[in-house]
This record gives sequence, C-alpha cells and structure tokens, in this order.
Amino acid sequence: MLNLDKIRNQFPSLSIKNNRGDKIIFLDGPGGTQVPKAVIDSISDYYKFSNANTHGEFETSNKTDIIMDSLREKISIFLGAENKDCISIGHNMTTLNFSLARGLIKYFNEGDEVVITDLDHEANRGPWMILEEKGIKIIRVNILKNGEIDYDDFVKKINKKTVMIAMGMSSNAIGTVNNFQFIKEIIENKNILFLLDAVHYAPHFSINVTELNCDFLLCSSYKFYGPHLGFLYSRPGLLDKIETDRLTVQDQNSPYKIETGTLNHAACRGAEKALDFISSLGNGNSYRKKIEDAYKVIGEHEKALAKKLYSSLNKLENIDVVGPDFSDKRSPTVSFIHKNLSANKICKLLAKENICAWDGHFYAKKAIEKMGLSEIGGVTRLGISCYNSADEIGRTIRVLSKI
Ligand SMILES: Cc1ncc(COP(=O)(O)O)c(C=O)c1O
Repeated sequence: MLNLDKIRNQFPSLSIKNNRGDKIIFLDGPGGTQVPKAVIDSISDYYKFSNANTHGEFETSNKTDIIMDSLREKISIFLGAENKDCISIGHNMTTLNFSLARGLIKYFNEGDEVVITDLDHEANRGPWMILEEKGIKIIRVNILKNGEIDYDDFVKKINKKTVMIAMGMSSNAIGTVNNFQFIKEIIENKNILFLLDAVHYAPHFSINVTELNCDFLLCSSYKFYGPHLGFLYSRPGLLDKIETDRLTVQDQNSPYKIETGTLNHAACRGAEKALDFISSLGNGNSYRKKIEDAYKVIGEHEKALAKKLYSSLNKLENIDVVGPDFSDKRSPTVSFIHKNLSANKICKLLAKENICAWDGHFYAKKAIEKMGLSEIGGVTRLGISCYNSADEIGRTIRVLSKI
C-alpha cells in the first residue's frame, strides 16, 4: 500500500493555503503534476555544482555528461527499452513529434497513408498533417458518441497503403485507455510503423516498449513528477534511417540526431530524480522491478480515489460524467459537464475553494467537438495523481454537490 503521508511530505507545494486557510488541492495533474523536493533540489544543485555544456575536458562538463547518460539509461529502464541509445530527449512531446514528422516526410512516399485518431491530443495529430505537403494521406479514425475509438472504423482504415499508425495510449480528455494491443495485433507482420503517445498513460501505468512492440513512443516528464521535458523512444536502428533536421556539425547518430542545440541539463537532472521518486515507491531487486511495483501501488491508490469521485459525481443531479466507468482499464481522470454552468465557471468556483482543475478541450479538440461539447465550453477535468488523498476528494465532492 502507498504510504500517503510519506509521499505528501515530499511535495512542498501541497502546503500552499489560500487566504482563508484552505489547503490547495491539485486535481490538475493531467496538465502537469507537482514536483517532489528531491527533484527541485537536484535542479538547484545542478546549477551550483555541475553547470556546463557537454563533452568538455573539465569537471563540470564531465559531470553534465554523466547526468545526461544516466537520465537516458534510467528512461530506457523506465520504458523497458532495449538500451539508452533508443532514448532521445526534447523540450516536450509536441516538439519531438514535429521533428519526427519532418524526418518521416522524407521516408514515406506520395500516396502512402498515415492513420491517426479523432480522440488524440493535437500533439499527435497536427505534426502528421505536414506529411500532406508531399501527398501522403492522413486518414482519421472516428470516435463513437461516448468518445471511445471506433475500432471497426480503425480496422477498415488500415490497408496496403498504410505506412504508419499514430495513436494515443490514454485520452487526456476522458481517461479512456485505448486498445492499442488490438491495433498492434491487426498490423502484426505488416510493414507499418506503430507510434504511441504515452503522455497521459505514463503517469499512471508502467510501460514496456519491448512488450508493446512499438516503433516509437513519446512521453513527458512534467506529467510524472518531473520538469518540463519530452522523451522519444525509437526502436533500435530506426532513427538512423530517418533524415531528421539537424546541423552537420552535431552527432549524426541515434539517439542524438533528433536533438537540436543544447538541452536543458538541469531539467534532465530533475527528470532523473523524478524517476528515482517513482521507483522509491516500489519494492524489488532492480530499478525496473521497483518501477513496476511502484505503478501497482500508485495505480491502486489512484483508481480507488477516481472510482469514488466518478460514482459520487454520477449521483449528483446537475452533473453528467463524461467518459467510461471503471469496468475496463482506464486512467484516473474524471471529466464532467454541469447542466447549467460552463466548465470554465465550474473551474472558477473550484478555484475559490483552492481546488485546481482545468476546463475546455485540453488540445483534444477534435474529440470534444465530436462529442458535441465544444459549444458549451468543453468539460471540467479532475485528474488524480499519487499525492491526492481521500480527504481531498471528499472536499471536492462536497464543493461540487453544492453547485
Ligand atoms: C495525451 C497527450 N499527448 C500529448 C501532449 C503534449 O505533450 P507536451 O506538452 O509534452 O508537448 C499532452 C499534453 O497535455 C497530452 O496530454
């Protein structure tokens, strides 16, 4: 079981209070989680003791090289990757995906088809649109009225011209966990690249890219207790075949060839500490085992709170919960609409009670549009993270039941 007090004590921001003395409640995790003290301290320590550019002969530069290598190593373990050379680092997921798309435009041919879904965050839709410049077709998979992917439509849209599928693992708008395994089975032994957006999945479930058998996977550490950075996993050797935009003077090999300019070394140090934080919540005789175990306890804790939130909101007359219940695997992100008030108004009322929540489409614009929720300003989204408590959920439900 998760030792919640021990966890909460590590997050300085959880003690923020408003002028009435109400403690802050962070339910904005899907937009970015809070950060433990060890992560914050490591960033400050980087600037005190290790600040330099990479590949120099002097000590701070050597230390920076070690930090960068160590992060790649730990992210590769975190994602179950073959080795650290599969891990590229970037400013965020969106930037990495754009760079990848600009590289793949040279790899694919006119008439080829890339399949994306209407449930996805724009970061896994917009970058692929640039392929249309070369006559590569972007094929969009529909969603059902409830927001879930229409898998019949998905299967119909895969054909001999399909060269890549780019899909999300979990919806940041309604919390669905998508059936990516099914799609992978459908394309087994076909020459189709398989890219997964794990940004909303990675904070809640452990990932094993070798088991997933994907070609690319992207995630962002600011969604799992770290600083604002993105990561790209590429299958060994694959990135070497792609002509990414890069300087002739930089390292031309994987994983560096998609990384342009100087990276945020201090944030990289922080991201490593965020992974250490997650692994510290689990038991096991290796870093990987600890991470897998940590996700079991994080998952149980988050699911219990999210289920309580979901069922309590479902009982309120003025509220309609959007998104699936907990009978299937889903993330602990609960979205809803109010019968009389816009999502933005709800967030303003919650903010007065020192409860942080987001409203709108969260860049999953197509999905919110297709569910017919754009005109009313989208949904209010409450996301559970490992530091949230039953008391916080109780207080949030009490506030919402009075609105
Ligand atoms: C599912 C999903 N994909 C992609 C992104 C974009 O991530 P980044 O901010 O790292 O570009 C987000 C951000 O909210 C997201 O939730």
